Amino acid sequence: MLQTLKETVSWLKPQIPEGTKTGIILGTGLGDLVNNITDKKEIPYEAIPHFPVSTVAGHKGKLITGRLGGKPILAMQGRFHFYEGYSMKEVTYPVRVMQLLGFEYLFVSNAAGGMNGSFQVGDIMLIEDHINLFPEHPLRGKNQEELGVRFPDMSEAYDRKLRQLATDIAGKHNIKLQSGVYVGTQGPTFETPAEYHYFKIIGGDAVGMSTVPEVIVARHGGLKVLAFSIITDLGVYGKIVEVSHEEVQAAAKIAQPKMAFIMEEIIKQL
Ligand code: HPA
Repeated sequence: MLQTLKETVSWLKPQIPEGTKTGIILGTGLGDLVNNITDKKEIPYEAIPHFPVSTVAGHKGKLITGRLGGKPILAMQGRFHFYEGYSMKEVTYPVRVMQLLGFEYLFVSNAAGGMNGSFQVGDIMLIEDHINLFPEHPLRGKNQEELGVRFPDMSEAYDRKLRQLATDIAGKHNIKLQSGVYVGTQGPTFETPAEYHYFKIIGGDAVGMSTVPEVIVARHGGLKVLAFSIITDLGVYGKIVEVSHEEVQAAAKIAQPKMAFIMEEIIKQL
């Protein structure tokens, strides 16, 4: 895999602005952040050697380079979900690419169902921590020492300083910011009421079908991570209604400008 990665990176490197150290993965219905990117250049996934290609509706499938908050960034519009049939190596391939490009920070967003009784649809949740319930671990297999250690520490998967910055910025600008634990599951079914209840009992505040694999690989690779969930539906007894992908996308769209604002303000300060 290392050889393949190196080929991807040497193809990409000349196209990435000098000094780029922040990667951003945009979740379902959360692609509008790219409208705030200046000096924008788009690279479709199909054009990138060895890059997987995304398929799910609402995911455009391209890398976007440019500036956000004045700083050079690389954004992924469209991620690879495990439920689409990609292997964990494919799901996390872009994060490895960012690591080998020398990035320091990974910002992630996703749409999620909220189990916390104080959450409302449209809330933004700062991810404090996660519970990995994916059936396969992205680091399973022979460890590549060049990429990270065999047994990575996960005591602070979501960087404390970045989280503090997010909280401060939200407070200063009167943006309601929830925080909590994200449960990562494979999907593609949304949860049954009993499953939402179970995820709440084990300590989750929100549940979704992404992020955890990418964050694990980012931590393995030494990147500092900040992640947000947009609460698009509620897995709270008495508030559970039928949910569709289209509704998730619509709810995400409404909340995303606030999340984009917080991300941009943080990037300014990096
Ligand atoms: N469950 C899992 N994934 C999701 C949900 C949910 O309720 N909402 C958006 N993504």
